[in-house]
Amino acid sequence: MERILITGALGQLGTELVIELQNIYGVNHVIVSDIHQPLHNHFDGVFLTLDVLDKPGLKEVISKYRVTQIYHLAAILSANAEKTPDLAWRINMDGLINILELSREVGIKKVYWPSSIAVFGPDAPKDQTPQHTIMNPNTIYGISKVAGENLCSYYIERYGMDVRSLRYPGLIGHRGLPGGGTTDYAVEIYHEALRNGKFTCPLDKHARLPMMFMPDAVRATLELMEAERSALTVRTSYNLAGISFTPEEITKSIQKSIPYFQTDYQPDFRQKIAASWPNSIDDSAARNDWKWKVAYDLDGMTKEMISHLKVKKQAINVC
Ligand code: NAD
Ligand code: SER
Repeated sequence: MERILITGALGQLGTELVIELQNIYGVNHVIVSDIHQPLHNHFDGVFLTLDVLDKPGLKEVISKYRVTQIYHLAAILSANAEKTPDLAWRINMDGLINILELSREVGIKKVYWPSSIAVFGPDAPKDQTPQHTIMNPNTIYGISKVAGENLCSYYIERYGMDVRSLRYPGLIGHRGLPGGGTTDYAVEIYHEALRNGKFTCPLDKHARLPMMFMPDAVRATLELMEAERSALTVRTSYNLAGISFTPEEITKSIQKSIPYFQTDYQPDFRQKIAASWPNSIDDSAARNDWKWKVAYDLDGMTKEMISHLKVKKQAINVC
């Protein structure tokens, strides 16, 4: 019987992944943890306050709950990482090495750790960025992700561990709010469209970035984790492609449902980060190895985002 530990589970991705993992493994087989306490009691089952820098604390939890798999999501994302690079490095790197070391020591069966399109820097090809290409990121977040990918690959090669990873594009969902990334605008824009009918975008109107709707990201994660180990050829992290669009294109997509919606543009430091990342991603390795296929396009995602956020807004108004 599997017992799954999730770190950083209160974040944008964890909020969604917990639900699916609980559906698969059962509520009491998923140990939900984060450095913060949940604001509302929105998780059934076990919740623990756990700092990934606290190695003895992690060890105690892994042993007490006889954990068999770890989804290590705790991290500081790109925009916030630029504000506190030393802290971001410690959480992103020391947190990962704590998880890998403890997993090696106790024989954890599988570890999942997310990487990002941020591994690519300004010299990588912008369009259809290949799986294997030059990676010289110029953000502390991207540097920590490249180092993390190599660390995972090292533990696989050296110790025979089963560590799996995806280079997510910007993730867009309606359940959780994003936690300080450069792609956060693509979530905030939907909230502001419904709240105010206008949005001030921190990126340039033509800043094209790879993005993905959360149900696709969660499905990709679970499909990778369920894939036959022998089918996996990428030891660092798989490129994963969803949708690529600009702020101007997402605005037009929203205007199909909310015609009066307007975006104005005030690019800040995040534009420089966005400009160093790919426009689109070649994920043929994922498609070949474990049959990855994206489901949502931009308008399909917009329809779902608006309809879910409308329901949420109505519920808040009733309260
Ligand atoms: P998030 O910022 O929303 O959540 C991260 C969580 O980690 C937060 O709940 C935070 O409280 C927790 N955390 C921070 N420091 C911690 C510590 N010391 N110990 C324990 N928990 C700690 O991020 P997310 O969007 O959920 O991202 C999850 C993972 O996916 C990260 O590795 C991130 O780099 C990766 N990723 C996310 C995106 C995206 O667009 N959201 C894209 C690419 C990769
Ligand atoms: N969406 C993430 C960020 O903007 C990319 O990893 O930081």
